[in-house]
Amino acid sequence: MGFIEKLRLKRDRERGFVLHKFTRSDGSFDYERYKAIQTDGNHRKLDRVFVSEDNIRFLSEVISTRMPEAHFGLCHGTRRGLEQNWFAKYLECEVIGTEISDTASQFPNTIQWDFHDVKPEWVGAVDFIYSNSFDHSYDPEACLTAWMSCLRPGGLCFLEHTTEHGPANTSELDPFGAEITLLPYLILKWGKGRFSVVDLLAGPALSQERPVHYLVVRNT
Ligand SMILES: C[S@@+](CC[C@H](N)C(=O)[O-])C[C@H]1O[C@@H](n2cnc3c(N)ncnc32)[C@H](O)[C@@H]1O
Repeated sequence: MGFIEKLRLKRDRERGFVLHKFTRSDGSFDYERYKAIQTDGNHRKLDRVFVSEDNIRFLSEVISTRMPEAHFGLCHGTRRGLEQNWFAKYLECEVIGTEISDTASQFPNTIQWDFHDVKPEWVGAVDFIYSNSFDHSYDPEACLTAWMSCLRPGGLCFLEHTTEHGPANTSELDPFGAEITLLPYLILKWGKGRFSVVDLLAGPALSQERPVHYLVVRNT
């Protein structure tokens, strides 16, 4: 990283929002590089699990209270696929996970799919979305807009936020990071009246120093 880029990164971290660019020398978006970095990271960390069952149980209680009729959910960026299986167990409904890496087929209820893209059959058909991988987006505005287009009116998206999702923890593998205090503003701006943050929930902490929060984004 050059001197100017380091200065820009320092300034962005201080402003509370960092987004790494995947740009070729001609200025075009280098999707192949993004996908290769994500896939390589997935292969290296394939035995790890970030999500906690306590948190999925907590969110399942929120979902069953606020939308008892929920029958279809999506989880984005799921690696070993535990979150979709825990949601399916607690809510007794269909939950599919997306995973960009070619390891997806090793895990149940997981499809190899880039979460920036939308399957036509998902549009307006999903009750809830959960992700702790939003920080892996190369374009968070387009990404969240795509996710929210899948929710039925009143559907809820739960974005997990921990210290690992902040601007200090960004890299090419985790290209996006924002302070939790800034995200409601960004989401309101990106939503353009179509969606906004309606709640901030504290889930069971991962440890004493690692609190977990959920930004609840509602489709209008
Ligand atoms: C931090 S890990 C979290 C994995 C899992 N949710 C957990 O808690 O253990 C992020 C995962 O998202 C996947 N990923 C990254 N970019 C993605 C994309 N654009 N579409 C789908 N999956 C992606 C990575 O390959 C990786 O397995």
